[in-house]
Amino acid sequence: MPALTLARFQRITPQQLRAFEATARLLSVTKAALELYVSQPTVSVQLRELSATIGQKLFETTGRQIRLTQAGEELYQAVREIAACWQRFESRIAEINGLVSGRLRIAAVTTAEYFVPDLLGPFSAAHQGIEIQLAIENRDRVVGRLQQGMDDLAVMMMPPEDLPLERLEFQVNPLVIISALQHPLAGKPVELADLTTERWLMREPGSGTRMVAEQHFNAHQFKPNVVMSLGSNEAIKHSVAAGLGIAVLSQLAVQQSVWSEQSASAQSRSQYPIALDLPSIRQAGLCILQVSGFPIIRHWSVVWRKDLPLSATAKHFLKYLQSADVLSLQPQDAC
Ligand code: PGA
Repeated sequence: MPALTLARFQRITPQQLRAFEATARLLSVTKAALELYVSQPTVSVQLRELSATIGQKLFETTGRQIRLTQAGEELYQAVREIAACWQRFESRIAEINGLVSGRLRIAAVTTAEYFVPDLLGPFSAAHQGIEIQLAIENRDRVVGRLQQGMDDLAVMMMPPEDLPLERLEFQVNPLVIISALQHPLAGKPVELADLTTERWLMREPGSGTRMVAEQHFNAHQFKPNVVMSLGSNEAIKHSVAAGLGIAVLSQLAVQQSVWSEQSASAQSRSQYPIALDLPSIRQAGLCILQVSGFPIIRHWSVVWRKDLPLSATAKHFLKYLQSADVLSLQPQDAC
């Protein structure tokens, strides 16, 4: 670090950085003060001093709201990078001490929420010293977190190609078309072209599910009549069951039990078909349409930045994912 920059950095206190981080994240001095158990004037003074040291305004006021200035955005990014760097350092120290402790930060795309907790449960039980932080976001936001090096690992279907990533592919992810149970095409073999007049519900822009569906539609010169974009798989399922339209979703999001008894082995998990749990699909008022070209077969991967050191906790989790314990993980029963 150049001496001049370091001189300025040395004048910044950890309390100022904490006050800034909390205010930038919560976009409120009052909330930051509450979170940090200090008074609001204390946070304001710390922010003022920090701003004076940096020589830039960090926040600006629009109406009753505050937002980061460009310099503030840059500082927020730097603070998050420092935090991520410190976390890696802590992990390496834990490794040197031979301890499997520390924090495991995983980001998972929305659809992975249906199975990631099942993978984390036994790992967490076996490694009580590891604190797991799981962030569930849509694909675009998970890619953003990967760019910033915020997590040790990310679980997703479509890793970005413009980042230096390692990946471990571990499970099949079939994408199906769902309709309401009473849909006139339920149970009949149909072509995609037969669905031109249907009302389509799509996940929000930024979702990997939406991206795969759009790629498939474009490749087949199919133009769906999109009537609604919804920000969650559950909202789509309920809307489809209510007869508002049809949608492309991961089969894992549609059924309660992710794996049947006979498909619980690691090998079968990575291959299609995964068994359909028809009772739970019907119970949700849904049906999987038999459309030619569907399901679209994709896979889940765990990815990590190959240009950043992998934390000891992440190495342990990857080893666990490849271990016999995980391979024999039993499916969750539908409730
Ligand atoms: P989504 O992402 O849950 O945001 O649709 C799926 C994916 O990118 O793997």
